[in-house]
Amino acid sequence: MTRTRPHTVDAADLSAIGGIDIDDVLAYVHRDLKKLPGYLDLYRRYLRQRWDVYELDFTADAADWAERMTQEERDAFVSISSGFHHGERQVEVELPVFMLGGGEESKIFMSSQIEDEARHTVFFDRFYREVVGLPGDSIQDVLDASFEHVSETFIGPFGLLAYQAEELRRDPENPVLRVRYGTNYFLWIEGVLALSVMKITLSYCRNRGFLPGYYAGFTATCRDEARHVQGGMRFLRESVDADPRLLLEVHDTLRTILSINSATSRRLALESLGWTPEEVRALMIRQLRMKLSDVGIGLAPDVEAMVSRIEPELAGG
Ligand SMILES: [Fe+2]
Ligand SMILES: [Fe+2]
Repeated sequence: MTRTRPHTVDAADLSAIGGIDIDDVLAYVHRDLKKLPGYLDLYRRYLRQRWDVYELDFTADAADWAERMTQEERDAFVSISSGFHHGERQVEVELPVFMLGGGEESKIFMSSQIEDEARHTVFFDRFYREVVGLPGDSIQDVLDASFEHVSETFIGPFGLLAYQAEELRRDPENPVLRVRYGTNYFLWIEGVLALSVMKITLSYCRNRGFLPGYYAGFTATCRDEARHVQGGMRFLRESVDADPRLLLEVHDTLRTILSINSATSRRLALESLGWTPEEVRALMIRQLRMKLSDVGIGLAPDVEAMVSRIEPELAGG
């Protein structure tokens, strides 16, 4: 497989991004993490990288879906992407409350992230309508139609996020509440779950040569995640630097997330997409460890032990 260079990832437009390897986009997420770009640098990058979700063409995807993919592959694909469909919509509506409590530069960057998440919601709306063929005249109709496919593990971190957003709504500048929200959203949901799902579905598409519209749009979405994860890790790093006691909140939030993570009664079967549960587990652990070590956030021994027992849960934003 030809590898693309990171600067190609940075500058690719929507027509070129379909040729980029997902591993290069994941490397791009981590490339700047150690130096943590400022919020206005990330905002400028957003202005350059913003893509038009209505430019995507799903015609070949619809043919792949109907004629080339097996029922098992379609089921596995829908069980992962439904978590995203709802996850994108949830973060789009719950980010404004986090935006309220940040500094001015952070607010400007957050306005771009809210727009990204809204665009990602439209991306999934189009995919479900035009490729999967779910019925509905409105965004809400299509969300309702995909809801039955959402895996139960989606309820865990996104249920927690809804609760954290509600707490933050009552006290938006509270640093403890902001760090709890940021640990769940930027570190776990975006930094671990989203990037793992991207790697799994996009490597399936690339290896099989399926779903080119989805591949282009979701690879562009992954590049957007690079900005979100870098902004989120900057927020956590600065919070802990300003008050080292906030590290305990990062640990406590991870304890909650990792406890919920093991409480699932049915597994997502991803073998048809080419992934064993052990490979998914290793991928998630690696994604979490890379974020933490790059920004210099250490873990308590009991949290470290929980990390090594991570279950392959999948949903994302
Ligand atoms: Fe998103
Ligand atoms: Fe995001």
